[in-house]
Amino acid sequence: MLGYNGANLENGDFMKDPKLRNALLLQLVEQAQDGIVVAEKEGEDTILIYVNPAFEKLTGYHSDEILYQDCRFLQGEDTQQDSVRQIRSAIEATEPVRTILKNYRKDGSIFWNELSVTPFYDEHDQITYYIGIQKDVTEQVELRQALQQAQAEIAELKAAIKDTTN
Ligand SMILES: Cc1cc2nc3c(=O)[nH]c(=O)nc-3n(C[C@H](O)[C@H](O)[C@H](O)COP(=O)(O)O)c2cc1C
Repeated sequence: MLGYNGANLENGDFMKDPKLRNALLLQLVEQAQDGIVVAEKEGEDTILIYVNPAFEKLTGYHSDEILYQDCRFLQGEDTQQDSVRQIRSAIEATEPVRTILKNYRKDGSIFWNELSVTPFYDEHDQITYYIGIQKDVTEQVELRQALQQAQAEIAELKAAIKDTTN
């Protein structure tokens, strides 16, 4: 069978060839539908060293505009500070973290970001890298907010009905 890039290999065997595997993994990351970024520590910041096309599409920023910057440029004044603190302590402790927070695109529009950040210590480079995966969960968060609002209104109406019937 023809494997990745036309290599004549048995099913999945190209995964055993480091060059073909790396090329395929890069293609998969580049084609992924969620944002995938890689960052490394620089002082107090974790600066972006790679962003995939889905991250550019989600945020509206081209990689040239944002590489070597810390991802906090996506946050606004009303971004959940609990989530930001959670991310910061995980980065300091070199631990993985997953949270949902409000982010802003380049055009100022908002999206809810389910962000997962995982550290990876590279023995060879002696550097800790972080992979960040950004999933747009705006629809789910807005539906949940609408449901909570409706539940609150129903509770108010029930209380009002109870008052008038007593
Ligand atoms: C790999 C990686 C990806 C990140 N992606 C985002 C993101 O998409 N949105 C966001 O608001 N913060 C993101 N962050 C978090 C910020 O870069 C920063 O770490 C966070 O705001 C806490 O630090 P601060 O309190 O110094 O701002 C990411 C961090 C890392 C390491």
